[in-house]
Amino acid sequence: MNTKFPQNFLWGASSSAFQIEGAWDKDGKKMTVADFNSFKKSHFQADTKVASDFYHNFEKDIDLMKELGMKTYRFSISWARIIPDGEGEINQKGIDFYNKVINKLVENNIEPFITLYHFDLPFALVEKYNGWEGRETVFAYERFSKICFNEFGDRVKYWQPHNEQNLIVRVEERINIYDEKDPLEIDRMRAQMDYNMCLAHALAVNACHEIIEGSKIGAAVSSSVTYPLTCSPEDVYAARMNDNFKVYYMLDMHFYGEYPGYYIKYLKERDIMPRMEESDKEILKKAKMDFIAINYYRTNCAEALPIDDNHPFGTREGAVDFSMYGLFKMSMNPKLKATEYGAAIDASGLRVALNEYWQRYHLPIIITENGLGTADVVEDGKIHDQYRIDYLRDHIEACSLAIEDGVEMLGYCPWSFMDLLSSAQGFKKRYGFVYVNRTDDDTLDMKRIKKDSFHWYQKVIETNGDLK
Ligand code: BG6
Repeated sequence: MNTKFPQNFLWGASSSAFQIEGAWDKDGKKMTVADFNSFKKSHFQADTKVASDFYHNFEKDIDLMKELGMKTYRFSISWARIIPDGEGEINQKGIDFYNKVINKLVENNIEPFITLYHFDLPFALVEKYNGWEGRETVFAYERFSKICFNEFGDRVKYWQPHNEQNLIVRVEERINIYDEKDPLEIDRMRAQMDYNMCLAHALAVNACHEIIEGSKIGAAVSSSVTYPLTCSPEDVYAARMNDNFKVYYMLDMHFYGEYPGYYIKYLKERDIMPRMEESDKEILKKAKMDFIAINYYRTNCAEALPIDDNHPFGTREGAVDFSMYGLFKMSMNPKLKATEYGAAIDASGLRVALNEYWQRYHLPIIITENGLGTADVVEDGKIHDQYRIDYLRDHIEACSLAIEDGVEMLGYCPWSFMDLLSSAQGFKKRYGFVYVNRTDDDTLDMKRIKKDSFHWYQKVIETNGDLK
């Protein structure tokens, strides 16, 4: 297929701090929510203590990025490395570390693309304010973002405030809800945290534009494309509402500065309206994103789900792919194959997603995550991951088709540059172009090995999208 990628297309790859850095308490860094959650699983899988040990290997790892030909590298900054308690004292050693990473990228002509918050809220803010539930956290985040813009903005043009806010709030441990049992109270806390994160997002967008001339900043969305399980009108509505409640309620807030009607109705009927200050309105309305970043892994189906005596309107069931009584029930698509971890493989759904987001908001789109997580086998020092090549090829092709459809795309950054700590499956589930030689129980020699997909992607970049 002749693909259609613009010149200057940002071919890259992604990662996040807690999943690669290790050195979880080194040089002044303190614990984060991501550390805390991973330590609960330390007895059966790898945790954040060493992860892929990027902290001690970043120079060699960036050499590999250069060899791959990456035009951009999307990674995140650990807030607790820069401000160990989330607020208060600044840790110069944390700033020094990211300066070294950024300088090395720039020396190698790799555009740094930074996420400010990727699931790793400083734990001190949980202890003081229950994390995002407190407005104090919003302003602590604003300060953190300004420190990053001031320290790194002379070299970093591309920013994302939060990674997948719309997914974080679905998973209770990610928003540090550990012991609460009452579903209504959980939904109340969730709605408040979600709103506070929207406000924090807007403050970061505004600060970024004020501090860094020519900067670009936009939301990273865990994307959702929902097919109606049948063609009955009720199921079609259910599918639409699923996308609304998984993605658009939040993107509309980021884009228009206010929640859409169906979401306000839900908040009112469930009686969980968050506290919003009058003065927030101006901040939210002023924040204008420059692009939308999509993380795309799968699609789902939905059908109507009526309320019953035990489940009033708005009651949730499940977490990441939750169903909601009165609106939608989620299921897997019987027409698609899925990965061993249950993610439906659906490259053409990506074309749908790209068209949909473009038509709604007319903002350029970059993919900041997309990939296949599975076990890899080392044979004679090589990893023949043809399955990953097939997966990525189909998804890159979908991007090219979307570009032909008229979608403006900035770039494509698959997940992930190298193997890293998968939150649910440790190092059993690998996504990288570069193999990291460790298991869940043993850090072995941490050697980096280029997989077949590394060599394949290198050619794709070199030829600006030739998929032969
Ligand atoms: C995304 C996250 O939702 O999915 C990543 O931004 C994550 O941090 C990725 O690793 C894949 O999920 P998992 O559970 O396989 O690690």
